[in-house]
Amino acid sequence: MATKSKKKAKTELENNESPTDEAPVMMPTEEEVPEPLIEDLPGVGPATAEKLREAGFDDLLALAVMSPGDLADQAELGEAVATKIIGGAKKMANIGGFVSGGALLERRREVLKLTSKVESIDDLLGGGFETQALVEVYGAFGSGKTQIGHQLAVNCTLPLEEGGFDGDVFYIDTEDTFRPERITQMARGHGLDPEQVLSRIHVARAYNSAHQMLLVDEIKRMSKGLNVKMIIVDSLTSHFRAEFIGRGMLANRQQKLNRHLKDLKQLADVNNALVLVTNQVHSKPDAMWGDPTKPVGGHVLAHASTFRLYLRKAKGGRRIARLVDSPNLPDGECVYQVTQEGLRD
Ligand code: GTP
Ligand code: MG
Repeated sequence: MATKSKKKAKTELENNESPTDEAPVMMPTEEEVPEPLIEDLPGVGPATAEKLREAGFDDLLALAVMSPGDLADQAELGEAVATKIIGGAKKMANIGGFVSGGALLERRREVLKLTSKVESIDDLLGGGFETQALVEVYGAFGSGKTQIGHQLAVNCTLPLEEGGFDGDVFYIDTEDTFRPERITQMARGHGLDPEQVLSRIHVARAYNSAHQMLLVDEIKRMSKGLNVKMIIVDSLTSHFRAEFIGRGMLANRQQKLNRHLKDLKQLADVNNALVLVTNQVHSKPDAMWGDPTKPVGGHVLAHASTFRLYLRKAKGGRRIARLVDSPNLPDGECVYQVTQEGLRD
């Protein structure tokens, strides 16, 4: 790892517009210029910059939103140095602070929508699964959460004009239920080359909740040179639920989960990507009316998800997806099917 990133840093140096003669002559394109580099931060020399990059921090915004303790841990720096770096990043990064509604609308214009290729689901979601959002899919076992994850992973690789993101997918698998064979079937269902699709889906098995959280940092590290457009965590809650048992652990669990969700949301914002998490349900026997099935994760997750979809099995192999919570869409339901080729109307 260290050697790899050293090599990376070296090529960066070699490729870098040397601040001497040629640089001013080159007409920089819009994409290359405006953002200052992490080397421009006070107190960041090449060695520290390398440490930061190795820990997955390669732009100022990613640094500006860290807490000193976490940055010190993740990048193996002293806390005083981390504080200084964060302070510098806050000043230099284009954080924006408060912006006008108009500017927000501008940012919202960047939002892309990923098709499920199921008309009823896309309609329910106002056109598809949005980037810059965290979508939670919950339901009982066998309700089809993992199927949605697989299908959207495939669809994410579709070109933009077909409703995809032409993007790379990171898939954190906590239950060992990712199946490349299923991706192959679904890719064929869209007439795509399965090998090509599989090459764009990067899968990691998470062995426990701590590992699961670390894998988000790993995504930051690995995302260079990739067009990261979707991050899937299937399931978000199973490890947390299994490891933090009983009321005494609840606060700790929720704190960790909150941190994890913030990290994921940050990935969604920085990459203009979609984060999809699946979640289990538990039965609330004390519910007097309505459906006693409730998603795990409590208020922390309820607040973090931008959209919540509740899946149920229905007669004849059909599935029902219910939009439970959305900032700008009415609640509603739709029906679809899981077939060998994937999700269909
Ligand atoms: P848990 O992870 O156990 O909580 O369940 P889940 O919600 O992730 O369920 P999953 O997405 O794994 O759905 C499994 C169901 O999808 C199966 O019971 C089948 O009904 C359906 N399914 C999976 N693969 C196929 C397939 O190739 N063809 C068809 N027709 N259905 C499939
Ligand atoms: Mg599953």
